[in-house]
Amino acid sequence: MELNPVISVLGRRLRLAVIGGGTGSFIGAVHRQAARLDNRYEIVTGILSSDSEKSKQAALQIGIAPNRLYASVAEMLAAESSRSDGAEVAAIMTPNDSHFEYAMAALQHGFDVICDKPMTSALAESEALHKKVQETGLVFCLTHNYTGYPMVRQAKAMVEDGQLGTIRLIQVEYVQGSKADEEKPMPDVITWKYDPIRSGPSRVMSDIGTHAHHLMRFISGLELEEVSAEIGTIVPNRVIHDFAGALLRFENGARGVFWVTQAAAGMENRLSIRVSGSKGTLEWVQEFPQALSFKPLHAPAQNRTPNGPGTLPLAARASRIAAGHPEGFHEGFANLYADASEAISARRTGRQANPLALYFPNSWDGLLGARFVNSVIESSNANGKWTKC
Ligand SMILES: NC(=O)c1ccc[n+]([C@@H]2O[C@H](COP(=O)([O-])OP(=O)(O)OC[C@H]3O[C@@H](n4cnc5c(N)ncnc54)[C@H](O)[C@@H]3O)[C@@H](O)[C@H]2O)c1
Repeated sequence: MELNPVISVLGRRLRLAVIGGGTGSFIGAVHRQAARLDNRYEIVTGILSSDSEKSKQAALQIGIAPNRLYASVAEMLAAESSRSDGAEVAAIMTPNDSHFEYAMAALQHGFDVICDKPMTSALAESEALHKKVQETGLVFCLTHNYTGYPMVRQAKAMVEDGQLGTIRLIQVEYVQGSKADEEKPMPDVITWKYDPIRSGPSRVMSDIGTHAHHLMRFISGLELEEVSAEIGTIVPNRVIHDFAGALLRFENGARGVFWVTQAAAGMENRLSIRVSGSKGTLEWVQEFPQALSFKPLHAPAQNRTPNGPGTLPLAARASRIAAGHPEGFHEGFANLYADASEAISARRTGRQANPLALYFPNSWDGLLGARFVNSVIESSNANGKWTKC
């Protein structure tokens, strides 16, 4: 049986508090399944709704003990941080406009934090949160979960290994159709997702643009210098952005294209990326996550698979099973929880974590994501003027 790196170090699982993810939420169950998949966390408490009664009912449904139910996040953090067996990690999966408040409060109480994206809904909040993470030295994992897929890790490892040569071109697109319906440009009840204040300065960017931005930085290892962008609304009578596009200039002179929309009728969740270097090109499509296409210069095209021939160590540790046995969204998400658990247990015991566990997105990535969103908006407002990131 494989050693559990958290139990080996701590002698127990990490105690997790969940914030958000109540009945009917999109991503709450995924977080809890991801936390439980590798047996490194025990969910001991949670506030699952802004309504305290609904929260308590939902918490009981996920197995929280009646004596660990609280009326608010503030009460929960205070009570748990004063218990000898209290929660020590907080996972935040609430609407975007509450990430900052809850993450700050959790850090102030000494909790390590796992937070869904976007890190915050305003740039100034991301600046402050990143500063707080640095000051406290606590672990902060931002769930840009697509970087948990084995073949995305393989792509990153191949770039780091020099197999692509110098990176020259990057094309990323994240194309969804969930907001393509012209009959319903806005829902009957305006939830936070359709509220331009609560969801951040641009819905499409907060929702999927930050994922695409992080994916290209993760695989290429390159930072963006400038963007020339257009952002807007293509479905009539809608008040939130539903597309954004940009030309990109990277720090090493590489060029790129970024395209995200939620208004492409019939499309589901097509996040895809192509990275070309001087020695070859990698292509990956999220809806078929087991395949990484590698087209080397002057050699036949190859298809890399999880744990297949040529798998590099960073990708090997992201698969739980032998080649040919499909894994997907939940396992990729769980890889971020697993990596964070190693960083947290190492921090708590004063040890060095396995360096391969430290590739998960953090508060710096969250801050760069927030800066990118603002740069895209600023450029678009100036009719596509090249704008620093
Ligand atoms: N990583 C991903 O792939 C991914 C996918 C979807 C959503 N998300 C992110 O997850 C977050 C939640 O998105 P969602 O689609 O699940 O939203 P949702 O509206 O479907 O669910 C939000 C949940 O949080 C609860 N909630 C709301 N306010 C709260 C508060 N103040 N305190 C405690 N609980 C509260 C609600 O009751 C609900 O259960 C967003 O930040 C979103 O960007 C990430």
